[in-house]
Amino acid sequence: MKITMIGTGYVGLVSGACFSEFGFDVTCVDVDAAKIARLEKGEIPIYEPGLDDLVARGVSAGRLDFTTNLEDSVQNADVVFIAVGTPSRRGDGEADLRYVHAAARQIANAMRPGTVIAIKSTVVVGTCREVQRIVAEERPGVDFSIASNPEFLREGSAVEDFMRPDRVICGVADERGEETMRRLYRPLNLRETPMVITTLENAELAKYAANAFLAMKVTFINEVANLCEAVGGDVQVIASAIGLDKRIGNKFLHAGPGFGGSCFPKDTRAYAATGRKYGRPQQLIEATIEVNESRKIDMAERILSALGPDPAGKTVAVLGIAFKPNTDDVREAPSLVIVQTLEGAGVTVRAHDPEAMGPAKELLPNVTWCDAPYETAEGADALVMLTEWNAFRALDLKRMRGLMRGDALVDLRNVYPAEDARDAGLRYFPLGKAA
Ligand code: NAD
Ligand code: UGA
Repeated sequence: MKITMIGTGYVGLVSGACFSEFGFDVTCVDVDAAKIARLEKGEIPIYEPGLDDLVARGVSAGRLDFTTNLEDSVQNADVVFIAVGTPSRRGDGEADLRYVHAAARQIANAMRPGTVIAIKSTVVVGTCREVQRIVAEERPGVDFSIASNPEFLREGSAVEDFMRPDRVICGVADERGEETMRRLYRPLNLRETPMVITTLENAELAKYAANAFLAMKVTFINEVANLCEAVGGDVQVIASAIGLDKRIGNKFLHAGPGFGGSCFPKDTRAYAATGRKYGRPQQLIEATIEVNESRKIDMAERILSALGPDPAGKTVAVLGIAFKPNTDDVREAPSLVIVQTLEGAGVTVRAHDPEAMGPAKELLPNVTWCDAPYETAEGADALVMLTEWNAFRALDLKRMRGLMRGDALVDLRNVYPAEDARDAGLRYFPLGKAA
């Protein structure tokens, strides 16, 4: 079976490389000629652990290639995935479907009869039917199938998540669509990985409901952390205690600076907009969005207050800019709001991130970028742990303190033991528990 993957970003490239690992022939297409040129040279345009080996293996086996020529590759494909971006539309927060619609038109004009078009991008309910309409209008009378195949991988563990998913969800509209999706995912050993075969609408909605629920869970524990601070509780103890209840589960209960990334923020906004559009407001998610927005400002204010009554002119050293570890993605990272708020208060920011400094430089032009964590601490009045990269977990806090001018450690991921911070002579400000 020949696969064409339209869109070679985080999802398209990982999915394409993983399908080629299963033995399928995959062509990854992108409009971004620079991206395709890098891939053709064997360079991986994003940081994603394990992806380089997978891509190299697929390419050398002749099962994976890259092109900007959508028409040729679609003409030869049995299945065409759409994995283009679905960002937030400015103003109303609805998903901007223009890239999906454009891809649908291009596919329609190039496909051969019998093609299965599978939508992997996260799309609001009704989009697959809309794509079906667009394709049928462009190529009247040509037979094709439509399927919805939302993706649940996380950045930073994308390859592992794709290869060992908790489940695969496929929305189908006919037998050919169902049979094709079953064949594509058969290599996963579907006795171990449940496959939910359902309608197009259910599959579309399940993707948003999953992300909305997870974003709400993170936001819930962040509010618990706030309460713990007021009453002398410890959010990590509460998270373990409630997480032992199998109905709650222990995942996604780490208090932090607010969720970010290329998906939770835009997907919660789109989900809330869908609720409003259909007159079924999703009030929990509306509140989740609002609480998460104000949390980022609250985090910046905590850092400012750790600097003392007159923060202007002081220096803060930030460890971690990416929205989570093991990725170079800075889209809607809490760090962006936090750093900009600090700078707005007259604070100088020095920062280091193992992989995300390249993409962040343009967004945060006033930051002094440092090559290593110890260099970042030089002359700082406060140190802020913002993204919990493993490389930051075992830092020598005494050495950090020795390089700093001040003595505040604001730990927005609860990475450091309080006694280590105290032993190093640092005033320690964790989240949701006593210092
Ligand atoms: P991305 O921005 O990294 O990549 C999208 C790519 O599509 C870009 O390289 C762009 O140039 C290309 N593109 C756009 N229009 C095109 C066209 N007509 N032809 C060829 N290429 C085209 O996006 P992403 O992070 O991979 O996300 C893609 C979709 O998957 C989104 O809907 C997102 O919500 C969803 N998703 C993302 C993740 C994630 O972890 N990033 C996880 C699950 C689902
Ligand atoms: C998320 C989902 O986990 C994936 O299943 C989904 O496929 C993806 O969105 C998507 O639709 O794009 P991702 O954004 O890569 O994946 O990262 P997560 O690990 O979910 O983290 C999201 C945000 O929540 C990060 O800012 C992270 O720091 C924060 N978070 C997560 C916490 O603050 N605490 C937690 O306990 C977990």
